[in-house]
Amino acid sequence: MTAPAPKSMDAIMALCKRRGFVFQASDIYGGINGFWDYGPLGAQLKKNLRDAWWQDMIMNPCWGRKGPNGQRVQCVPLETCIIQHPKVWEASGHLAGFADPMRKCPGCGHFVRADQLWDVLVSTSEWFSSMIQEFEPAPAGTQTPVLDSQRLLKWARGKGKRLAPNLALVKNPEVTLAWLVTRVNGQPEAPPDVIEIVRHVATEQLNATGLQDPCPRCGAVLGTPAPFKLMFETFAGLTHTDDNRVYLRPETAQGVFLHFKNVVDSSRVKIPFGIGNSGRSFRNEITPRNFTFRSREFEQAELEFFCHPDESKDWYAFWRDFRMDWWKSIGLAGENLILREHAQDELSHYSVGTSDVEYRFPFTSPGFGELEGIAHRGNYDLTQHQTHSKVKLDYFDTTRGELLPNGGRKGERYMPHCIEPAAGLDRGALALICEAYTRDDTRPSPEFLKLHPRVAPIKAAIFPLMDKDGMPEIADKLTDDVFAKFGRYGFIETDAKQSIGKRYARMDEAGCPFCFTIDGDTLKDQTVTVRDRDTGQQQRIGVDKVCGFLTEKLGL
Ligand code: GAP
Repeated sequence: MTAPAPKSMDAIMALCKRRGFVFQASDIYGGINGFWDYGPLGAQLKKNLRDAWWQDMIMNPCWGRKGPNGQRVQCVPLETCIIQHPKVWEASGHLAGFADPMRKCPGCGHFVRADQLWDVLVSTSEWFSSMIQEFEPAPAGTQTPVLDSQRLLKWARGKGKRLAPNLALVKNPEVTLAWLVTRVNGQPEAPPDVIEIVRHVATEQLNATGLQDPCPRCGAVLGTPAPFKLMFETFAGLTHTDDNRVYLRPETAQGVFLHFKNVVDSSRVKIPFGIGNSGRSFRNEITPRNFTFRSREFEQAELEFFCHPDESKDWYAFWRDFRMDWWKSIGLAGENLILREHAQDELSHYSVGTSDVEYRFPFTSPGFGELEGIAHRGNYDLTQHQTHSKVKLDYFDTTRGELLPNGGRKGERYMPHCIEPAAGLDRGALALICEAYTRDDTRPSPEFLKLHPRVAPIKAAIFPLMDKDGMPEIADKLTDDVFAKFGRYGFIETDAKQSIGKRYARMDEAGCPFCFTIDGDTLKDQTVTVRDRDTGQQQRIGVDKVCGFLTEKLGL
């Protein structure tokens, strides 16, 4: 099946700003790259998402579904600091390993991720797109575009000067071209592919330097790759010295491992059980992009589920399946959601198995982007923290070991394994908005958000058809009743301004699932119209039935 045409990200971002879902951080100063704030509707949408996660993962885990051990799933919450002891990140492996290889351009100062160089070059570089048009397309069955040195020379002296002033071909076209022609003519049986051609046009002194890699922006020769640390650093204390250097957490998960023993000692949890932690994480992403998808400050909702090593594979499968079902339950359609098992060479340093829940965002379509990772982390983290802290973090399980004459068990000491469903709330909110965004040009207001009632920031709207004849009073009373019951889940709006069509349109665009209108008939028979956002259909129900209707439909 082919994917439907992607929705317009520009239209979605415009609606998010217009209706107060998402604003660029520091907007009035021109914004700051990789940081986003949530407006009134976005803040409530995100809270509803966080609350749904908290409810279904911690308070009533997996909707009461039984785990592979046949028991109710058991989870408790935790709330940990953004800044922890720097040794935490040494033990977790983030200080040594959490870095991307970067190459700096000496010409324009631009940084390029070494592993993305050719993708970026081919897909975004203006000079490359322009230069490659001067070649004849590769003949059928070959990878090599046909070189016309006169056309390339003309390009170097014309467009090239403007688009890639630091490219060797532009700075010294005769010498650079001579090397390229020698290569093409010298080995006609093994002609160069596009990447080799691009490296040739970036190289002036082939014998001295070998082939070079050009900057996608200006064409200068890129420096050698160096690791670029993704953790934000700051200092705790008076002096900015190495002793006071601390890090903003890049994930909420480590806070859980640090308190595994405290939680076991202070509460009645027994393995298998989970500890949930949700909050802000920070990564100095090199290329923040795609709206809130890749931000430098974002919110995670992570569960670390501890179990006996022998049961870990079953729990891994259990959590993977539940997390897919959960995202579907709050409105992400099946065909836009996939579960992707990581290949062995994709796994993180700690992982013995990982699956991603991926959503088909408009900017990834027809492909998918990660929404949540479910990782089998083995006993990596507890073992690491035990080694670095010298505090014993293993677990004594009184339900295991050989059977004793008194009917009890001898017990077994082991390092628990951990299954980690790690979700991103910003990516979650973005997926919900993208999924909900609908354009229907036959409607008076063509853009609307089909948000699932559970996450919709406005739960209901109540309109007096006219601002007279007792209608506003009935609307006020109904609003009070609905607010008393549902106000803690989201906004309850009233609106007496403009035509009823315009009022519906305003609510549709904000994703409000139900609008109730008090009209002339209400005065006679105590009924109101209820209008469904998605179908536009209306029905009449008694004023006294509105709360019951919402209880059923909002599914809270
Ligand atoms: N503890 C494991 C961990 O942090 P991760 O896959 O790096 O795993 C989990 O992050 C989730 O956090 C991702 O699936 C994504 O939803 C979210 N996330 C990660 N980096 C992000 C970023 N730069 N911007 C927004 N969300 C991000």
